Amino acid sequence: MRIMSIENVKPGMTVAKTVFGASCQNLLNAGTVLSEEYITRLKDLEVSSLYILDDNFGDIDIDDIVCDQTRLEAGNFVKDVMEHMKLGKGFDPGQAKRIINSVIEELLSSKELLVKLVDIRSISDYTYFHSVNVAVLSGIIGIGLGYSHLRMQELMIGSLFHDIGKTMLCDQVSCEPSSIEGEPSGDMKKHPLLGFEILKRNKNLSILSAHVAFQHHERYDGTGYPRKLAGPEIHEYAKIVAITNTYDLLTTD
Ligand SMILES: [Fe+2]
Repeated sequence: MRIMSIENVKPGMTVAKTVFGASCQNLLNAGTVLSEEYITRLKDLEVSSLYILDDNFGDIDIDDIVCDQTRLEAGNFVKDVMEHMKLGKGFDPGQAKRIINSVIEELLSSKELLVKLVDIRSISDYTYFHSVNVAVLSGIIGIGLGYSHLRMQELMIGSLFHDIGKTMLCDQVSCEPSSIEGEPSGDMKKHPLLGFEILKRNKNLSILSAHVAFQHHERYDGTGYPRKLAGPEIHEYAKIVAITNTYDLLTTD
């Protein structure tokens, strides 16, 4: 199988992995032969890419580092939290820890972390699942660095909510993943500080997770924002998330 952009798939191709909707419902089962109508419907649902059977790739299978169910649960949790924040409500840090713990468990039980970086893209409402990808990728780096469970949790909760400050900037567009190019203009530059303030109010979360939100757009050479921190002034967690956030944005259609 291989992953293809929705713009390039054609009628007659066979879906290799089930396509999910944002509420965990199956949109199209694995094995379905695509028709023009299916493709149009998937585009309407903003599915950006899907896995297609391809003879050239033989029976190469792409395992998930974290199963679809866990990713969907985490993505939907992020979505709920973001929507609650917009309404001025809080969120349950205990649930965030439970979800991150199950992701950590799956990461630690995976034997081939480095060759299985392909993740869930066959999904509508990708916005919230970007945060999950960043958390998973950051967790992989954390494992590589020999992090303890506590450090993994601090890093990955910070990763999951790195853009939570955008909920204070109101509209739906503001919650979309950031562009990787340059410094944003206007209010968008405030989202790291706003995210820091939201997360630090949660006494059950580590202040270091809040600093991930605060520092994830800082750059090692001091060209980032909002404070133009450089080198050792940037916390290691934020350095990791700066990389994984950019990686996921670069590899998203
Ligand atoms: Fe951001």
